[in-house]
Amino acid sequence: MERTYLMIKPDAVQRGLIGEIICRFEQKGFKLVAMKFIRLTKEMAEKHYGEHADKPFFAGLVEYITSGPVVAMAWEGKDVIAVSREMMGATNPSKAAPGTIRGTFAVDIGRNVIHGSDSPASAEKELAIYFEEADFVEWNRTVESWIV
Ligand code: TYD
Ligand code: MG
Repeated sequence: MERTYLMIKPDAVQRGLIGEIICRFEQKGFKLVAMKFIRLTKEMAEKHYGEHADKPFFAGLVEYITSGPVVAMAWEGKDVIAVSREMMGATNPSKAAPGTIRGTFAVDIGRNVIHGSDSPASAEKELAIYFEEADFVEWNRTVESWIV
C-alpha cells in the first residue's frame, strides 16, 4: 500500500490544529503508520527542503520549519500521496480551495500549516529522513474493509 510523509508545521502546532489536521486524514480513511513529535535540526530542514536550496525563500523556510516542534507522520492508503496533496490544497493558501486544509486554516505561503510529499520519490526520500524501519507500526485498521 502507498505511503506518504505528512508534517504538521510549527504554526499549526502553535495554533492548536494538530487534532483537527490528523482528524481529516483519519476520517478520509487513511491509516497512520508512524508518528513523532520533534523539533527539526537545521541539518534535517536543509535535507528535507534540499530541492529549494537555491530559492530566495530557502533561508526563511528553514528558519520557520525549525522555529518550533512539528508532528512528523507516515500515512498509508490508496493513492494517499496525490489525495493528501488535494486535501492540503495549493502551496499558497490564498489560492488554496476553500475546504482544503490550507484553504481553511492559512493565508500566508510562509506559514502554510502542513507539508505533504508530492511524488512517490519524494515520499521515499522524506520518510527516510524522519523514520527508520522499526518506527513503522503494522496494524489492521478494521474500518478499512468498509472503505477501500
Ligand atoms: P513547495 O515544495 O513548492 O510547496 P509544497 O509545500 O506545496 O510542496 O515549497 C515548499 C515550501 O516552501 C512551501 O510549503 C512554502 C515555502 N515557499 C515559500 O515560502 N515561498 C514560495 O514562493 C514557495 C514556492 C514556497
Ligand atoms: Mg514540495
